[in-house]
Amino acid sequence: MGTLLEVKHLSVGVRRGNKTFLAVDDISFRIDEGEILGLVGESGCGKSLTCLSIPALPAQAVERLSGEILFQGRSLTSFSPEELTRIRGREISMIFQEPAAALNPLHRIGDQIAETLELHGLADKRKRRAEVLQIMEKLGLPEPEKLARAYPHELSGGMCQRVMIAIAVICRPALLLADEPTTALDTASESQILELLQKINRDLGAAILLVSHDLGLISRVCRRTLVMYAGKILESGDSEDIFSRPAHPYTQSLIGAIPRRQQKGKPLANIPGKVPSIEDPRSGCPFAPRCVYAQARCAAAFPEETPLSAGHRVYCLRAAGIVT
Ligand SMILES: Nc1ncnc2c1ncn2[C@@H]1O[C@H](COP(=O)(O)OP(=O)(O)O)[C@@H](O)[C@H]1O
Ligand SMILES: [Mg+2]
Repeated sequence: MGTLLEVKHLSVGVRRGNKTFLAVDDISFRIDEGEILGLVGESGCGKSLTCLSIPALPAQAVERLSGEILFQGRSLTSFSPEELTRIRGREISMIFQEPAAALNPLHRIGDQIAETLELHGLADKRKRRAEVLQIMEKLGLPEPEKLARAYPHELSGGMCQRVMIAIAVICRPALLLADEPTTALDTASESQILELLQKINRDLGAAILLVSHDLGLISRVCRRTLVMYAGKILESGDSEDIFSRPAHPYTQSLIGAIPRRQQKGKPLANIPGKVPSIEDPRSGCPFAPRCVYAQARCAAAFPEETPLSAGHRVYCLRAAGIVT
C-alpha cells in the first residue's frame, strides 16, 4: 500500500488572550492508501485539532505553527485557500461527533447531500438527484426516496450520522476524517456507523482516520493505531500490538479504562489524574505526572523513539529500558 497522507512535525497553537499555547506538539504520522488508521486518546489531547489541520479547516483562535502535510505527494500546507476548498469534501472529507448540529434543520436531507455535488461543479439537478439516491442505496440507507424528502429533526442521531457520511463520501474522497463519529450515539447506532465506515473503506476504497477516546473500539476497526496524549503521539503501531502488548504506561491505562458496554457515554473514569491543560508549563514526558513508573528524569526531556517490533514505536524511557 502506498502512502496517501504524510504529516510531518505538525504543531498547532491555540490563542488565549494574547498568548499562544501548544495544543499539538510536533507530531508526525502517515496514512496509507485504503487503510483505517485509529487515533486514540482522552478528551483534550489534541485529536480534533489534528484532524482539522489536515484539510486546514479554519477554527477560531487556532493556527498551525509548523509542520508539513503531504496528500498524494502534494503539499497541502502550501495550497491557497481556493485550492483547499476544492480538495475539501471532494478528496478529503470529514465527519464530526454531533451530526445533527452539522445538518441544516431547514433543508431536506436529499438537498443537503446534493449540495456537495453542486459545490464541486455538478450543475445538472437531475444528475445530482440520481447520484444522491445511488449513494444512499450504496450505503444501505433505508427507503432512500422517503429519506431524501425528510428533514433532519425527523431522524435519529444515528440516521443523521449516516446522512453526514453520505454527504462526506458522495464525491468519493480518498480520505475520510471521522472525528468521534459514534461518541454521541447509542450502542446499536455505534455498531451501524462502524460497519458503514468499514463498508466505505472496502467498497469505495477510502482511507479513514478514525478518532475515538475508546481504544477497544479503535482496535476492533483499525489496522494501525496512534496513541495521543497532551498534544504528543506516545505510541504507534499495529492495533494488535498496541492492544495486546501496549508499551507505554498511558496506553496500558487506556486499555484498563475501556468502557464496558453498559457504561457507554460515561467518561473514562479509571485513569487517576487529569489531562494537563495546554496552559500548564511542561517539559519531558507529558504523562509523567500521572505515570506510576515516572522518575525525575522523565520530566527532563521528551523521550526518543524506541522501535519495538515492526512498525511498533513508543516514546517512553521505561519502555526503552532506561527507567525501571
Ligand atoms: N477553537 C479552540 N479555541 C480554544 N482552545 C481550543 C480550541 N480547539 C481546541 N482547543 C483546546 O486545545 C486542546 C486540544 O483540543 P482538541 O483537539 O479538541 O482535543 P480532543 O479532540 O482530543 O478532545 C484542548 O485543551 C482544547 O481546549
Ligand atoms: Mg475532539
